[in-house]
Amino acid sequence: MGNLKGVALSLLFTSFVLHLPFAESDWFINYHIHVTNDLPLLKSPPNQPNLFLHCKSKNKDLGERGMVKGQDYTWDTKVNFLRTTLFFCKARWVGHKTRSFDAFVTDRDEMPCRHYHNSCMWSVRDDGIYFSKNNATWGNVYPW
Ligand SMILES: *[C@@H]1O[C@H](CO)[C@@H](O)[C@H](O)[C@H]1NC(C)=O
Repeated sequence: MGNLKGVALSLLFTSFVLHLPFAESDWFINYHIHVTNDLPLLKSPPNQPNLFLHCKSKNKDLGERGMVKGQDYTWDTKVNFLRTTLFFCKARWVGHKTRSFDAFVTDRDEMPCRHYHNSCMWSVRDDGIYFSKNNATWGNVYPW
């Protein structure tokens, strides 16, 4: 009996040790942040960018990008050891409005973004900036 208990304990210990790397792999998840320009088509000239997006974190400046209708701008990020990873963006809808929004905040977005290919999906529309965790249902998180 005592021997069986020992076997059970060592099995438990082994599985605990074997599972640690899986738990730690959360640190290495690559999150894909998507921002799509779903603003109405610019009437003239139609193929010029009607949205300028400037995203950055504390350490990384992605620069300002001009986006035409339907364009999807994407970049990747990991969560840092202190879990302070944060990307914020300024969206400028040409001739209309400017809005700042957080595109990735570790505590807010880590779990929702794991729903669908580790993707955080944002859609810039005429009434605000929407978020989706499944690329199907959207919520207006940042009205203009
Ligand atoms: C979301 O869905 C659209 C079409 O329904 C597709 O074009 C797009 O690639 C999808 N985005 C992601 C990140 O899978």
